[in-house]
Amino acid sequence: MEMNPAPRPPLVDPLASEAASDYVRVCGEFTDRMFWPLKMFTALNLFLWHMDAFERDEDPVPLFVDVFTRATRFLRQATASGTGMASFPPPATAASGAEGFEQRIFGLFSDVWVGLTDDVYFDQSYEFTRQRLEKNEIAPGDLFGSKVVLDAGCGSGKFSCALARFGADRVIGVDLGQKGLSFARDQAARVSYGHRLDYLCGSLLDLPLPDASVDLVWSNGVVHHTLDYERCIGEFARVVKPAGTLFLYVNGRFGLFELLLDTLRTATADVPRELFQHFLILLGINSGRIYWIMDCLYAPYEWKGRAEVVAMLERNGFSEIRQLTRGVAIDQIEQVSAGLPHAEAKYGEAQLKFVATRT
Ligand SMILES: C[S@@+](CC[C@H](N)C(=O)[O-])C[C@H]1O[C@@H](n2cnc3c(N)ncnc32)[C@H](O)[C@@H]1O
Repeated sequence: MEMNPAPRPPLVDPLASEAASDYVRVCGEFTDRMFWPLKMFTALNLFLWHMDAFERDEDPVPLFVDVFTRATRFLRQATASGTGMASFPPPATAASGAEGFEQRIFGLFSDVWVGLTDDVYFDQSYEFTRQRLEKNEIAPGDLFGSKVVLDAGCGSGKFSCALARFGADRVIGVDLGQKGLSFARDQAARVSYGHRLDYLCGSLLDLPLPDASVDLVWSNGVVHHTLDYERCIGEFARVVKPAGTLFLYVNGRFGLFELLLDTLRTATADVPRELFQHFLILLGINSGRIYWIMDCLYAPYEWKGRAEVVAMLERNGFSEIRQLTRGVAIDQIEQVSAGLPHAEAKYGEAQLKFVATRT
């Protein structure tokens, strides 16, 4: 297995955890829906704050403690003075249990896809994938050329399109969300390589494909959102041919960024997702960024460390596991790999991307 030396365990400072807990506590005290606007406003500002603060070469911990302390104080003062009070319709009732969980996750993404503009959908996905692979010394044409590829959890199909453009013979996109799939089919109808794209509705936990039927499984940012990480990997091992390839991207342990996301997600848990998304659209935020913010603040995450994911891949019949540690400049993993100041405290292990071979 080719891997870089393991980074130290992600550092989450106790003072940062305490400031985050205070903020969650104050949000929890304000249960009435008239507080939703204040919670949205504060959460968005904290998220935007990290984008600025994490770019600086400064120790992020004191900044994190300071901004969360101020956010907590702001909420206390604003609610005491009655600022920002408004009334909103109640959230739609959702199904509970596993079905409710899956409806929530694909509902969230489906609504986000439809706003994607062509430059983000077609060009950015293609260009970023090319650069990310090439920086890891992988030629996209070698990886995808003439292959039958499963895009496992394809969402809007934006990466399925990129893989077809890199020369895949056939790309089968599978996702739970009908709305995303129908958007993906509409997009495929607009491009010359659309006849090489097929979209199927199904779950990664029980893939609608025969054993050993694809040359390559591509799964980009999906498995950490499902209800059973290991079962997904087991399904990938079942459908890929012997000596076939898996590309897996999951989130590792994320240091302070993980604490930020978990905190904001908990604190805004009662604010309806549709309302928050509408708020971002009203602010005129770019479609790619809205997708990222909604993913960070509303999608459930299962955080697993690198060693755990590697062990799971090995248990499920994958070998020659290679971690792709390079990325484009905005990728958190690129910042950690380049050893930028405080990058590890900010992002821990960051994104885990692996290429592995089915034995
Ligand atoms: C963060 S999005 C990533 C989409 C796409 N891979 C991309 O990179 O643009 C996660 C996707 O996983 C899908 N998903 C979540 N759980 C799933 C499951 N059990 N089976 C199939 N798709 C699932 C969601 O519907 C959503 O489209």
